Amino acid sequence: SAQDNKFKIGLILPMTGQSTSTGRQIEAAARLYMAQNGDTVAGKKVELIVKDDTGLPDVTKRLAQELIVNDKVNVIAGFGITPAALAAAPLATQSKTPQVVMAAATSSITEASPYIVRSSFTLPQVSVVMGDWAPKNGVKSVVTLVTDYGPGNDAEKFFSDRFQLNGGKVLEKLRVPLRNPDFAPFLQKVRDAKPDALFVFVPSGAGAAVMKQFLERGMDKAGIKMIATGDVTDDDQLNDMGDGALGVVTSHHYSAAHPSALNKKFVEAFQKANPKMRPNFMAVGGYDGMRVIYEALKTTKGQGGGEALLAAMKGQVFESPRGQVLIDAQTRDIVQDVYLRKVEKKDGQLYNVEFDVLKGVKDPGKAK
Ligand code: DHB
Repeated sequence: SAQDNKFKIGLILPMTGQSTSTGRQIEAAARLYMAQNGDTVAGKKVELIVKDDTGLPDVTKRLAQELIVNDKVNVIAGFGITPAALAAAPLATQSKTPQVVMAAATSSITEASPYIVRSSFTLPQVSVVMGDWAPKNGVKSVVTLVTDYGPGNDAEKFFSDRFQLNGGKVLEKLRVPLRNPDFAPFLQKVRDAKPDALFVFVPSGAGAAVMKQFLERGMDKAGIKMIATGDVTDDDQLNDMGDGALGVVTSHHYSAAHPSALNKKFVEAFQKANPKMRPNFMAVGGYDGMRVIYEALKTTKGQGGGEALLAAMKGQVFESPRGQVLIDAQTRDIVQDVYLRKVEKKDGQLYNVEFDVLKGVKDPGKAK
């Protein structure tokens, strides 16, 4: 039947609400992957069903249920924020449906279901790299400022622990709410504490607001540097942040300026299909997540159920636009290179220019 000849991917994303840029980036990247690789794989017609969860986990859960039960999707994918990924996890387990997490980045997500495979990153993975770099580069004291939920708490803990292990002092740990954050009162506290640097994590989409407030309050002129995970100098927003962002050092797994031949092709093709956008780390998570699904479909020759697909996702090794990656067969999490980058101007545009790399970083956040 026609149903038997289809392979359905239910892509659940925040297409509206606070994380809209994540949804737009991942949808664009998934469609690019399909345009480049065709929609017939192992004799099956691949169908992408995109659903907007607005970033609310109750909606994610309802949509995942409908996609699994009514649409009989073979895979659920997407998940813009941690609460969304966690809301779908029990349904993936009950129905034995692989769940490919393309965005959300709290370490523990992969432990919420044995059917979860992650193509994004984890906050511990990128934060420990900054915790090593900063104290060796003149930063002896910090205040941390993170969004108060899973990934922010991971960033705060893993950055601070590593920074202190290296002899640094954490003067204060500040947390801002996820919904409608006002950074002003927090930045006032940072000014009063006078650290060498402010370490920041906010989710994709919120970086420009933090940067604007940081500069408007003259923090940099008061001698306080900003250091951050690359979520803050997000390629989706960076070029609009202005020259005040120049020199900000971040650690992350993807930059649109990553100087590989494969990435240049990816960025060019993405921008050709989406002229007003620059691909960010969310786009690369979506693109690689589609790769993981396509290869699993090929390996199982279009005949496998959820268990077989999951088995074929584990252990995949490939070159991503970000660099070499591995889907760790034990943890189902991604192992990847983490880069140190500095905001610089290239051809009149702001980019995160990589200047150092830690190869093959596993998520340091796993309990075992
Ligand atoms: C998450 C969301 C983000 O936008 C991001 O940059 C990192 C993590 C999350 O909710 O897991």
